[in-house]
Amino acid sequence: MKKMQALKRRIQTIKHIVKWVVIIYLLTYIVCLPFRESKKGADETSYTLLQAYVESGLLETAPMRHKTYSNGEVFLLIMVPSAVSNFEQRDAIRRTWGNVSTIKPTVLLKFVLGKSKDTVHQSLAETENSIHNDILFEEILETYENLSQKSIALLRWASANCNGVKYLLKIDDDMFLNLPRLLNELNAHPKTNTISGCIVSGASPFRFAFSKWKISRSEYKNDYYPDYIAGTAYLISGDIISNLHRATQNVPYFIFEDVYITGLCRKHIGAVALENKGFNCGYRNRGPCGNNFRYQITGHHYTPREIQRMWLELQDRWSNCRLVDHYFFYKLVDLFKYMFL
Ligand SMILES: *[C@@H]1O[C@H](CO)[C@@H](O)[C@H](O)[C@H]1NC(C)=O
Ligand SMILES: *[C@@H]1O[C@H](CO)[C@@H](O)[C@H](O)[C@H]1NC(C)=O
Repeated sequence: MKKMQALKRRIQTIKHIVKWVVIIYLLTYIVCLPFRESKKGADETSYTLLQAYVESGLLETAPMRHKTYSNGEVFLLIMVPSAVSNFEQRDAIRRTWGNVSTIKPTVLLKFVLGKSKDTVHQSLAETENSIHNDILFEEILETYENLSQKSIALLRWASANCNGVKYLLKIDDDMFLNLPRLLNELNAHPKTNTISGCIVSGASPFRFAFSKWKISRSEYKNDYYPDYIAGTAYLISGDIISNLHRATQNVPYFIFEDVYITGLCRKHIGAVALENKGFNCGYRNRGPCGNNFRYQITGHHYTPREIQRMWLELQDRWSNCRLVDHYFFYKLVDLFKYMFL
């Protein structure tokens, strides 16, 4: 009898807790509702700016021509695959780590865009290019399945237009990069015949029927992928760019661009996959603070606003990380944003 009562009381308590959790969740959800839109709003800034340019007739949207670079003119070519609509991301990169105008030895930055279904975005991106002349437009529909196509296209452009380049860095548009650190390292430890970054060893394809990432035996027959370098950022030594591009014509197309380029095609030409401890490829596995990247090269998944703040922090050698950028807090904040915003 006593036991029953104790059990009942416990169930009551649990019910209470659940009730309050639900109430608090719903209240937070409702309170956060007006701010949900602001996500879209942030994306509009550079978009609005571009539209103003177009309407004022300041710019025609004639496609620009890209220069071809001769032997040894470029030391490092940075290529950033970016979706047509990611105006804000490109803007942040140009203002921060992608501002390579005064860097020696010569660094070149190119964004690689495909074809968007949104024709307004498409023509705005062309206008953007007539201001900055740093965008390559490829005839590739922007879908997830076509990501490897973009990587093939950037290899093609690099081998055709950037003869003798020493290194090619492929990096996503949500990445933070400490470029001076990378250049120092390349000078101290030159690399040939390698692709380097975060190495992934012994990964195997998902075979579950209902997984979004499902890979059937006909798409890939082996149980394991060869070693590959995580696609968020990888560095290809210049000596293998042409070879690697040629390999893409012989190795059957595969949907995951990092497995394809840095795994299958790399293995095909006998180049080495190399770990670089300075590359951070896990989802925000370092807090969004410039100071965390003083001795690091890349970090994965930051917003354009975070990238700009981190860049300023990195320039200031006396800066400290804010309390909210410490591991526990920003993970908590990330979770909150994920749930409510
Ligand atoms: C890039 O850096 C130069 C020199 O520091 C500066 O004048 C220029 O405004 C910067 N460009 C952007 C887009 O921030
Ligand atoms: C890209 O993806 C779409 C749909 O997934 C497909 O129809 C198209 O052929 C692909 N390739 C290119 C080059 O656009």
